[in-house]
Amino acid sequence: MEMRDQVVVVTGGASGIGKALALQCAAEGAAGILIADLDAEGADAVAREIGPAAVGVLCDVADPDHAHKLIAAAAEAFGGRPVDVFFANAGIAVGDGLGDPGEWALAVDVNVAAHVVAARALLPGWLERGRGTFVCTASAAGLLSQIGSAPYAVTKHAAVAFSEWLSITYGGQGVQVACLCPMGVATPLLETAGTAGRVVRASGPVLAPAEVAEVVMGTLRTGEFLILPHPEVLDYLRHKGTDYDRWIGGMRRLQAAILSEAP
Ligand SMILES: NC(=O)c1ccc[n+]([C@@H]2O[C@H](COP(=O)([O-])OP(=O)(O)OC[C@H]3O[C@@H](n4cnc5c(N)ncnc54)[C@H](O)[C@@H]3O)[C@@H](O)[C@H]2O)c1
Repeated sequence: MEMRDQVVVVTGGASGIGKALALQCAAEGAAGILIADLDAEGADAVAREIGPAAVGVLCDVADPDHAHKLIAAAAEAFGGRPVDVFFANAGIAVGDGLGDPGEWALAVDVNVAAHVVAARALLPGWLERGRGTFVCTASAAGLLSQIGSAPYAVTKHAAVAFSEWLSITYGGQGVQVACLCPMGVATPLLETAGTAGRVVRASGPVLAPAEVAEVVMGTLRTGEFLILPHPEVLDYLRHKGTDYDRWIGGMRRLQAAILSEAP
């Protein structure tokens, strides 16, 4: 799909990858961009940077009604137009090690349940119109694993699984689904992600959010499901599929090597 003239929603759009996605949508001629974030001031600031095509709104994706509210806000902001493209991008990295019950609940709500809620709200209109694009920001952790955080590893796997399911189920009815799975990206999340952040920073190149957004737009044009700003993730996934036990052994060695170094 081409971004020109599309009405777009970006959750988590006040910062990092979401902000870069919003800016790139604007550069490619989107008709309207709703920037939705818990950080309302940050969302407004990104909207001001873009100009009249963008509007910032306060949004908590853990609210089970958030997607209906965003669809209504987009219609109000952009002349009654429906949402064409939804970037389910807001995400959190909580829970060092096993994590505690509160961290698990939050990670499930924000990193997984929010995507289900959004799809439920968007699909009826998209199926009626025969078109719509859902882009889920998962992570390479959702294809491989996340050393240092069980809640992040597991909820990102669930996000990939849900995206696959959506594509299998609705891809033949005009709904494009894509799943973004980067390794390290230079954002506040990476700095505050505890052991997991430390491991990601030591595991490979850390890209700028703008580089990621460019790869996202390119992959949306070609229509592929997996968006891989770090192409090596596909090699790691192949290793995992070829010999699971060998891959787990390699991950153990990587963990020992990184965690034995001074932070
Ligand atoms: N940075 C990385 O290395 C990296 C790697 C792989 C995947 N990701 C994923 O990318 C996505 C974006 O993260 P980022 O790195 O740009 O981080 P970021 O911290 O820069 O941005 C995340 C944004 O989401 C918002 N947010 C958090 N919880 C929210 C909620 N409940 N409702 C609405 N907004 C909420 C935050 O306020 C923030 O503006 C996340 O899903 C993250 O898991 C990041």
